[in-house]
Amino acid sequence: MTADDAIALLARKVAAASRLTVLTGAGVSAASGVPTFRGPGGLWRSFRPEDLATPEAFDRDPRLVWEWYAWRRELVRKASPNRAHEVLAAWSRRMRGFRLITQNVDGLHERAGTENVVRFHGSLWEVACRGGCAGAPRAWRYEQAFPELPPRCPHCGGLLRPGVVWFGEPIPAAALEAAGEAVDCDVCLAVGTSAVVHPAAGLLAAARARGAFTAEINPEATPATGAVSLAISGRAEEVLDAVERRLTAV
Ligand code: OAD
Repeated sequence: MTADDAIALLARKVAAASRLTVLTGAGVSAASGVPTFRGPGGLWRSFRPEDLATPEAFDRDPRLVWEWYAWRRELVRKASPNRAHEVLAAWSRRMRGFRLITQNVDGLHERAGTENVVRFHGSLWEVACRGGCAGAPRAWRYEQAFPELPPRCPHCGGLLRPGVVWFGEPIPAAALEAAGEAVDCDVCLAVGTSAVVHPAAGLLAAARARGAFTAEINPEATPATGAVSLAISGRAEEVLDAVERRLTAV
């Protein structure tokens, strides 16, 4: 199948779907200048997840972990949503049965205007009391730069932690529940994810098991590539733009 045929097929499937679920990963934000985790230039090439993205790493060296998150917050603050975010935002407003599940913590889907984003791994823009003190909400938005690192809980004076899901931690129950419903769909499309981190990586297979047409957009092959109904090798911002141009052509 040529690239054009693949894009035309995806556009037809998206147009015909009454329930479309899109699962996104770091590759969707690559064109915004936000580094991915794996692959060339990926964060996990220079940093080790066990030093920065686990509860144990935080308890060992909260300042180091916070410096890494504060650096990423500043990087993302200066970034803007790209064409991939914009197309998905347009679909969220236009398509009734559209659902977006993201592993990204950068908030760029929301900044592009996407409605009802299900965040699997939390948000860079939220914080929580590490000790889970009774005075504090479970997590809350905090978008300003921190006056000191590591930042302190305004309720108990203990440490704050980033409002993200670290390795070894459970996915928020509401996100898991929403994902369980979202895999009941006609089309399930994975965009810009290496499809290796579970449980997010299992959503495509779950959708397929329920009879969905499954598709992937990624410039590299992933463990999902051989299993989806349609794999499109390309960048999210270019492929989604091409699909959207077909959908909106008069
Ligand atoms: P990864 O960094 O693992 O994968 C990014 C994927 O995006 C790769 O497969 C790239 O080939 C692809 N990619 C790169 N540029 C792209 C582009 N312009 N368009 C489309 N795809 C592109 O990111 P995730 O799959 O999101 O979790 O990673 C999953 C989780 O692992 C993250 O949420 C994070 C990480 O460790 C935690 O921190 C808990």
